[in-house]
Amino acid sequence: MRPPKVSWHTRTRSPGETERLGELLSRFLHEGDVVVLKGPMGAGKTTFVRGVARGFGCPRVYSPSFVLVREYRGTKKLLHADFYRLGTSLEVEDLGLEQLVSPQAVTLVEWPEPFVPVAGESCIEVTFEYGIAPEERNLEFTADDDMAARLAAFWEQAEGGGRK
Ligand SMILES: Nc1ncnc2c1ncn2[C@@H]1O[C@H](COP(=O)(O)OP(=O)(O)OP(=O)(O)O)[C@@H](O)[C@H]1O
Ligand SMILES: [Mg+2]
Repeated sequence: MRPPKVSWHTRTRSPGETERLGELLSRFLHEGDVVVLKGPMGAGKTTFVRGVARGFGCPRVYSPSFVLVREYRGTKKLLHADFYRLGTSLEVEDLGLEQLVSPQAVTLVEWPEPFVPVAGESCIEVTFEYGIAPEERNLEFTADDDMAARLAAFWEQAEGGGRK
C-alpha cells in the first residue's frame, strides 16, 4: 500500500510573496526532484519558479513557452519546462521527454499533464488558483513518499515566518 499523500494549502497576496515561497521551497529540493506546477494561465507558476531559481542563485528566469525546456545553473542545476503547447503523452514519448528528469537537476514543469504518465510519482505537485482579490492566489502543495517529510518541513518554516 502506498503511504498517504500529504497536502498543505496556503494563500499569497502578491507576486513577491509567491516568489518568496518558491525561494523557501528551494532549500528543501534535491537533485533528481520533480516539482509539477498546475493551474490556469497567469496563476503564478513561472513566478514561483523564479523564486526557486533565486534560491539556487540562478540568473533571471524567462518563460520557456517557446522552447519547452530551459536549463539554469546556480548552486543546483534547474530545468524549467513548460508543456503548454504539447498535447498528449504520446508526443512526449516521441520527443524523448521521458528523459527530461535528470538525477543531476531539480526539474520544474508547468502544464505537466502530458508529462506525468512518464514521470512517475515521486514529486511535489503545486496547484495554483486565482483568489478573490486581484493579487490573491491559492496554492495547494501535495507530496508523498520521501517528499512528504520535506514538504512538511517546508510548510512548518513557511508558517513559522521563514519566508519573510
Ligand atoms: N499572488 C500572486 N502570485 C503570483 N503572481 C501574481 C500574484 N498576484 C498577481 N500576480 C501576477 O500574475 C501573473 C502571474 O504570471 P506567471 O507568468 O507567473 O503565471 P503562469 O502561471 O506561469 O502562467 P502561464 O500558464 O501562462 O505560464 C504575473 O503578472 C504576476 O505579477
Ligand atoms: Mg508560466
